[in-house]
Amino acid sequence: MNQYVSPSALKPLSITDLAAMKQRGEKISCLTAYDAAFSALIDQAGIDMMLVGDSLGMVIQGHHSTLPVTVRDMVYHTRCVSHARQRAFIIADLPFMSYATPAMAAKNAAKLMQLGGAQMVKLEGARIDCIRFLVDQGIPVCGHLGLLPQSINQLGSYKVQGKEQAEADKIRSDALHLQQAGAGLLVLECVPAGLAKDISEQLTIPVIGIGAGVDCDGQVLVLYDMLNIGTVKRPRFSRNFMTGAENIETAIYAYHQAVKQSLFPAAEHSF
Ligand code: KIV
Repeated sequence: MNQYVSPSALKPLSITDLAAMKQRGEKISCLTAYDAAFSALIDQAGIDMMLVGDSLGMVIQGHHSTLPVTVRDMVYHTRCVSHARQRAFIIADLPFMSYATPAMAAKNAAKLMQLGGAQMVKLEGARIDCIRFLVDQGIPVCGHLGLLPQSINQLGSYKVQGKEQAEADKIRSDALHLQQAGAGLLVLECVPAGLAKDISEQLTIPVIGIGAGVDCDGQVLVLYDMLNIGTVKRPRFSRNFMTGAENIETAIYAYHQAVKQSLFPAAEHSF
């Protein structure tokens, strides 16, 4: 089995490539990445996108939430990832309070792109003002709805969002507004599978799920969860891809294949 993509395929993917994948019904695979070594492995396994997530605050830095992560941390890790990447599209998180105003969002997004090498930035919540402002400056934006880890002190716990009708309706309308504001991608975290399916069908932009069922246009997992390493307890919606794998490379490739073939997530990983 040849698990590596051929060198001729190693041209950086663009947002239009990802949009075309949604159009033709090809699932998009994404993993978080924080350093050059894993970036190279993930890229060579053929994963379509790498998210330099502020989850690094928990899995790399050992904090209990993503709140302590700074723009400087994000730039450093994004640069590590982008140095080793050949094909995968790179998204970097704008960390907590780095987009309190549209002007702050633009200044910090520029750092992630110019110094870090990100192709897109992600921010949490229906921050339509920031999204519109960034898009007007030519900065591609990924929205993030459902469970918002940067709001953990308001939420109280990392729990499924959108189970109540009013909550689901709000997520649905936020998703539409975010697309109208110019977001090019949407991450939906920890929402019922039926809601994620509806939103994925309604939006023209790709919807990437994490704990959001199999019917999203793509899937993302935190790398350390799916490799079952580190100190953070693996959430129910993730899977240990090291089980049955010979090594890290084959585990990452198994995840990529499972996403492409809609074999992951299964019902037991969904809400
Ligand atoms: O920071 C992160 O890793 C994320 C994913 C959970 C989507 O935002």
